[in-house]
Amino acid sequence: MSNLNVYTCCLLQVLECYIISIELFIIPLLAAVWIMLPAYVPNPVAALVGGGTPIDLGKNFSDGKRVLGDGKTFRGLIMGITAGIGIGLVQIVLSGTYHLVSLPEHTVMSVILLATGALLGDLCKSFFKRRLGKERGRKWPVADQYDLVAGSLLLVLLVEPRWLFANLSIPIFVAVLILTPLLHRAVNLIGYHLKVKEVPW
Ligand code: CTP
Ligand code: MG
Repeated sequence: MSNLNVYTCCLLQVLECYIISIELFIIPLLAAVWIMLPAYVPNPVAALVGGGTPIDLGKNFSDGKRVLGDGKTFRGLIMGITAGIGIGLVQIVLSGTYHLVSLPEHTVMSVILLATGALLGDLCKSFFKRRLGKERGRKWPVADQYDLVAGSLLLVLLVEPRWLFANLSIPIFVAVLILTPLLHRAVNLIGYHLKVKEVPW
């Protein structure tokens, strides 16, 4: 084989690896962020604007500990869900305008369910966190990172299973599982340094 042929062959192989890596990694990662954005936004927005009356109204559960704690407020819940829905509606407009066909296609319903489910998951987590005797803001690894994923995807699974199976492929789901704790950590570190969050987790 001539030198030119060897070079062409190598170049084609590099190109092939590049295309495979885009299809295997980059697109699922982008799709994961795109599908989960309405669920990712509510938590940081709640941390930014939350406060005021706690959802459990300061009441204790039968075990004598707070039902949810002071970290779960009506304002955080409502503003967080509204922001998640808002970002999702922007995504729907962008998809239509720029024909983003390789990304999951949001609907008004998917956006509402993802944003609401994310903060319901967060509330459920806090309920069980209090039952285990962990104070507000204490670390609870895995649960703190995946509460929003469990809450949002479970709510969509219950109400709109067809949409979920049409849009959440296994590679995208794996990308969501890998990306979520990394994004969670990064956003919380930023929040901590900006003094929006009391703890960096
Ligand atoms: N927040 C809120 N209302 C919510 C959720 C969050 O006001 N429904 C605000 C609170 O100020 C909270 C902050 O966002 O302290 C960070 O949220 P999170 O980490 O979920 O709460 P924690 O304070 O860590 O409480 P918990 O231990 O129950 O998770
Ligand atoms: Mg917390």
